[in-house]
Amino acid sequence: MNVKDKVVIITGAGSGIGAATAKLFGTHGAKVVVSDINIGNATKVAEEINLQGGIASAVKTDVTKYEEVKSLVADTVNKHGSLDVMVNNAGIGGKHQAKTADHTDDDWHNVIAVNQTGVFYCMKVAIKQMLIQGKGNIVNVASLAGIKASGNNLSYSASKFAVVGMTKSAALEYGRKNIRINAVCPGFTHSALLEQLLSVSPDMGDKLKRFIPMGRFGEADEIAEAICWLASENSKFITGETITLDGGTSL
Ligand SMILES: NC(=O)c1ccc[n+]([C@@H]2O[C@H](COP(=O)([O-])OP(=O)(O)OC[C@H]3O[C@@H](n4cnc5c(N)ncnc54)[C@H](O)[C@@H]3O)[C@@H](O)[C@H]2O)c1
Repeated sequence: MNVKDKVVIITGAGSGIGAATAKLFGTHGAKVVVSDINIGNATKVAEEINLQGGIASAVKTDVTKYEEVKSLVADTVNKHGSLDVMVNNAGIGGKHQAKTADHTDDDWHNVIAVNQTGVFYCMKVAIKQMLIQGKGNIVNVASLAGIKASGNNLSYSASKFAVVGMTKSAALEYGRKNIRINAVCPGFTHSALLEQLLSVSPDMGDKLKRFIPMGRFGEADEIAEAICWLASENSKFITGETITLDGGTSL
């Protein structure tokens, strides 16, 4: 995977898919900015990358705050001279599982703020920098819930369909500016987010696996491989694309 020396920011990189992605970029020789609202977790991930001979630093960023996203990108460019890859991974689920009429306002506002507005802010700020450089690469982490219906999950579904739409629309706008923008759509993948879903009932895991032709949940490092590939020169004619990694669930 050709990402050596690339300057990469990953949001929500303190755990799960983001942490696995940060570590994978680290092993491939990228300069990794491990960003998360949880600075303790981000610091641990950056330390692990550095211990294994990579180059990483941790930055506290809440993606719902435009000024913090601006500082994240500006500080990265000051430190490393450019921003080659922006991985917009930070995301949350709603706290309650409920049909639309009972979907809480709090869940709606919180999920849209992180998953949708956060990705908008990160794309907006990153693209401004990439236009100055004359090149760049963005990978958004959407979801299977962004291409297929999912019940009891309206804000999450809305936010992830939005991420897919923003990915395609922005890719259309910046293709001639040498900026590629793609998304991955993971299915159920082991992480804190999945644990939250599984905690709803003891048989939830078995119920979900019935819908997965491969019969198992995904692993964070399996999603990381696709993110890293989209960010690399190995995929250089691909833009506006979504890659679904779901063990066949969407079939
Ligand atoms: N795990 C799955 O089954 C699955 C499936 C499809 C899509 N996804 C998506 O993958 C992405 C990563 O999720 P994960 O499964 O690794 O979950 P996770 O909970 O392990 O990681 C999410 C990270 O985002 C961070 N975060 C939350 N709010 C933030 C904010 N406002 N600003 C910055 N960081 C913030 C958290 O601190 C956490 O480290 C999310 O966008 C999620 O929607 C996950």
